[in-house]
Formats: sequence, structure tokens, C-alpha cells
Amino acid sequence: MKQAAAKHVTIGIGGGISAYRTLELIRLLKKNEASITVAPTKAALHFVTELSLETLSQNACLSLPLQTNNGQISHIEEAYQSDLIIIAPATCDLIAKMAHGFADEILLQTLLSFQGPVLIAPAMETHMWQHPATQANIETLRNRGVQIIGPDNGDLASGRQGLGRMASVNALFEHILSALTPKDFAGIEALVTAGPTVENLDPVRFLSNHSSGKMGVALARALAQRGALVHLVHGPLSVAIPELSNIKSYPVRSTHDMLEQVLELAANVQLAICCAAVADYRQAKIAQEKIKRSEDTITLSLVKNPDILARLGQTSPKPFLIGFAAETANLEINAKAKCQQKNCDLICANLISKSNPAFATDDNEVLILDQKGPVLHIKSQRKDCVARLILDTVHQRLVF
Ligand code: PMT
Repeated sequence: MKQAAAKHVTIGIGGGISAYRTLELIRLLKKNEASITVAPTKAALHFVTELSLETLSQNACLSLPLQTNNGQISHIEEAYQSDLIIIAPATCDLIAKMAHGFADEILLQTLLSFQGPVLIAPAMETHMWQHPATQANIETLRNRGVQIIGPDNGDLASGRQGLGRMASVNALFEHILSALTPKDFAGIEALVTAGPTVENLDPVRFLSNHSSGKMGVALARALAQRGALVHLVHGPLSVAIPELSNIKSYPVRSTHDMLEQVLELAANVQLAICCAAVADYRQAKIAQEKIKRSEDTITLSLVKNPDILARLGQTSPKPFLIGFAAETANLEINAKAKCQQKNCDLICANLISKSNPAFATDDNEVLILDQKGPVLHIKSQRKDCVARLILDTVHQRLVF
């Protein structure tokens, strides 16, 4: 099931040029199975049409004050039905009206009737954003519990550059999912490792593996959505890190870099999930010059890397520790042995096979074990869903 399934989101649109980008947000939320009502202001309809909004949302717009539907007052019904209201773009006029309780648009009437989470994505020219009146209104809304996303620095409608550009659609999407998720990991500081580590051979060549970081990033994202502060230590990733303020990114390259970064963070975390595919060996001496292609065969001299997970298993106090195990045979026996040897609380085992390559795929099949044996078999599904199920198991065992 998609994360936004069975959720109803009201999307308010103010009259700003970035309104066209909100169409993409509607599409993303629909793809995630949310039901949507769009409430554009009169000014918004100069920038986007009701036809586009209704086509993408597959629902009638709320655009007229005191609109009714089958004898029911639309803004009241919408406020009761909605799980979340996001306003993107939020112009300075809309922000001022929200701060002062105006109700001359159906969007504003809905907001006044609504008791759930409200997110706004301000978008305007830099001086309008920085104006003391706008900042005072923003402060009023913030104090009232409204979540302010952005604005970003970037291209503005005037052709100038500066602060005031609406936050990216991906950031809005991430914040919406996060706001819809119960915060059962609030107060937890977590460490997640993701992606491969990379060991240089010479200035242009390296040893590494196929890990994309998808599984580790999915775990970081799920943890952040559930309220944890996440330190994501990662090698080069093939996926974007979610734009959430409670995910801190620590890019590293080699196993030694990752170990150093992990140990620096370890003392402050209550939970550590080691999902990275760490290079087990490195070149004994990295060549200073590019290795010449003169011989038919060359011999690499490799030395063993430190084991980051095992080192975490020896720390005191030890965080609740979860390892991953990539095995090509004897999954249960090998994974259980790794769980015991590395002093993990849980280990998530991947049987690497043609049907579950696990590396760089969107889906994964995982067997969760503790030191005594199997705990939960997670059938093959999207890594986002696998991450959520892993966290459900962790939540049952982690003492808060
Ligand atoms: O990144 P993706 O493309 O989404 O793929 C996800 C994944 C397949 C990489 C992930 O699900 C996974 O299985 N990660 C662990 C891969 C691995 O290195 O397994 P391992 O059995 O070699 O290592 C066991 C554990 O020890 C792992 O938690 C690993 O992070 C850790 N380890 C291993 C070696 C080492 N030197 N230091 C370590 O910390």
C-alpha cells in the first residue's frame, strides 16, 4: 500500500508564478494514492486553470466562497474530510490573510474550519519575503503550529536570483508524507549507513560494489518521517536524499572514512542501522600514478578493512544495533552467525539471487533475525515498504 493511500489532502494554491509547479505535486500525490481537493484562490486561476487542476486531481475544485455541494457547505465538509492542508505557493497576501483570520476565499474559510496539520510553501520576491510585515505574519503562523517549508534561493519570477523561490516539489512531497506519519520514533537519534564504500586503486580506478543506497535511504527516510533525527553516513549514492531537515547527510568514500564518521556519531545515537555494503578489502598501497596497461596480468595486493558493524557492537553504551547481511547461500545460518559475532540486536538478511538481486533494485526480500533465529520474513516488495516493516519490528524491541 502506498504511503498516502486513504489520506485526503487539500491543496491550496495562491496567485504566484510557481503555481504551475504545484501541478506536479498533485500528480505525485495522486500516484501515491492520496485523494485530493484543490482550492485555488481567484488570483491563482490567472496562473493555472481549473480544468488542469480538476483533471490532475480527478476531483472538483473548491474555488467559490460559500460554495455548496448537494446542499452541504463545501468548506466545512472539506475541513472535516481532510487529513492535511498544504498551500503552495503561499503568496504574501495569502500569508497575511491567514495570519489575520480573513475568510474571503473558500481556501481561507476551509483553513479556519480545519483542525489538522497545515503546511505552507511561501513563494515571492526576496524583498516581499524579507519585509517585516511578512516576517511578522510568518512568525504568527509558526507560533500557531503552521509548518513553513522554504522558501529556497534560486530563480525568481522577475528574472533575478535570490531567496523567495518556492521549495522543490520533492521537498513538499516529503514534508506532506512526513506530516501524515505518526511520530513513534520522536526523540530518537539514529545512525544509518547506506550505499557502497569505495577503495581507490590509483588516481582513476577503484574497487567497489553495486549498492545504490536505495535500501539505506529508504530506512533513513522512514525513520525521519516517524520523527527520528537521522544521521545518514553514506558512500556515493544513486538516489537522492529526501529533503527533510531531520536527515543529516555525511558523505564518505572509503571504509576508513565511514568508520571514522560512524564512530564520531555513535556515542549520541540510540539506534544504528548498518545497511552500507562496505568494501571488505582495500589496496595495500594506492598507486600514485595510473597503473599502466603493459602487463597481461597484474596482481593486486589487498588488505582487510576494519569491520564497522563489529566495532559498533563493542561500543559502550551500545546503540540498538541492526546489521544487514548479503548472502548467496545458507541465509539463515550465516546471518544468525553474523548477528552473534557482531553483537547485533537484529540482522536483516538478503538472499542474493536472480529473483532477489537486492543490490540497486527497487524491491527487496528480507529475513529479520535476532541472535536466537528468525523473527520476521518480509516478502519481496518496494524498499520503502520493507523499511517501514523493519522499523515496526525495531519499534517493538527498542526501549524508549
Ligand atoms: O544499496 P542498495 O542497492 O539498495 O542495496 C541494498 C543492500 C543489498 C546493499 C543491503 O540490503 C545490504 O544487504 N547491505 C549489506 C551488504 C553487506 O555488506 O553485507 P555483508 O554480509 O558483507 O556485511 C554484513 C554487515 O556488516 C553489514 O551490515 C555491513 O554493513 C557490515 N560490514 C561489513 C564489512 C565491513 N568491513 N564492515 C561492516 O560494517
